Amino acid sequence: MKAIVQDTYGSTDVLELRDIDKPEIADDEVLVRVHAAGVDRGAWHVMTGLPYPVRLAGYGVRAPKNGVLGTDMSGVVAAVGKNVTRFQTGDEVFGKCKGAYAEYARASENKLAAKPSNLTFEQAAAVGVSALTALQGLRDHGRVKPGQQVLIIGASGGVGSFAIQLAKAFGAEVTAVCSTTKIDLVRELGADHVIDYSREDFASGERTFDVILDIAGNSSLSRLRRALTPTGTLVIVGGETGGRWLAGTDRQLRALAVSPFVGQKLGSFICREGYEDLLVLKQLVEAGKVVPAIDRAYPLSEVAKAIQYLEDGHARGKVVIVI
Ligand SMILES: NC(=O)c1ccc[n+]([C@@H]2O[C@H](COP(=O)([O-])OP(=O)(O)OC[C@H]3O[C@@H](n4cnc5c(N)ncnc54)[C@H](OP(=O)(O)O)[C@@H]3O)[C@@H](O)[C@H]2O)c1
Repeated sequence: MKAIVQDTYGSTDVLELRDIDKPEIADDEVLVRVHAAGVDRGAWHVMTGLPYPVRLAGYGVRAPKNGVLGTDMSGVVAAVGKNVTRFQTGDEVFGKCKGAYAEYARASENKLAAKPSNLTFEQAAAVGVSALTALQGLRDHGRVKPGQQVLIIGASGGVGSFAIQLAKAFGAEVTAVCSTTKIDLVRELGADHVIDYSREDFASGERTFDVILDIAGNSSLSRLRRALTPTGTLVIVGGETGGRWLAGTDRQLRALAVSPFVGQKLGSFICREGYEDLLVLKQLVEAGKVVPAIDRAYPLSEVAKAIQYLEDGHARGKVVIVI
């Protein structure tokens, strides 16, 4: 089968399109004929092996352990292990796998769900970690309630494009922070108010918010706290402020340290990729409350270009690979 393989960590130059053997599945795994795969910041982190804790988290200390990149995908079940009970050959699925940028990938049955009936394979592949992160950030950590004021920083990207729609589905009044060229996108996705960060400061003190979902990761903790109500909740999702060891995660650590001593709730989390929340998202998608916003689709041979496009900050919503 064809796959995008990397032997070393590095920039997009390390990615090669090669013919390799189809993956073998364990008893609790499913082999999926991949039709489309999602691109997210995680792909860049695994490609580069940065920040270094990524390597210690099981991806391989000196070189990538699983040479095939990519985790989010959608496709058709081609084979099932003998302990698999929820899927059979021919089922259309979406979710997380090992090595999505390939014609076939293996996945644990607990990280897959039936593809939403109203989505194309490209749209379903875009859901994955971005939508799961937005869902868990707002529902479990932000505990968003109807009528609350929610601020989404980094609203035009992969996680943000889902977060706007989910916060609206939870009944919140949503303010989206983005760059000038993406104002139209965040409005189309349902934002009630938009802050163009090149002209306006969300922390000016004019307005405060019950919940802030910080996906872009450039603002200091003190600025974020200024924009929160006295009992508001800050959920830090990400940070790409550089640094080979912490890559901006020092803000998350500071938030966790300060939180017990102030009236505001300050925290962070790592997304859990299980089928239960994929089913929640499937229902929201099938009810028409969430529609993946796809910016571009690239062929398998152009994964490097797709990752670079995302890394350069151009993406409006999600980027996908069609296989
Ligand atoms: N905690 C977790 O489990 C988890 C899971 C998934 C992702 N993440 C992290 O979340 C972050 C975002 O991921 P993503 O997939 O959504 O990335 P993405 O698709 O690249 O989107 C990031 C967005 O941030 C915006 N942005 C950049 N600078 C900004 C600023 N100063 N103010 C407001 N917005 C700004 C960019 O758009 P503009 O052009 O509008 O600036 C871009 O749309 C990454 O750090 C990622 O590693 C964490």
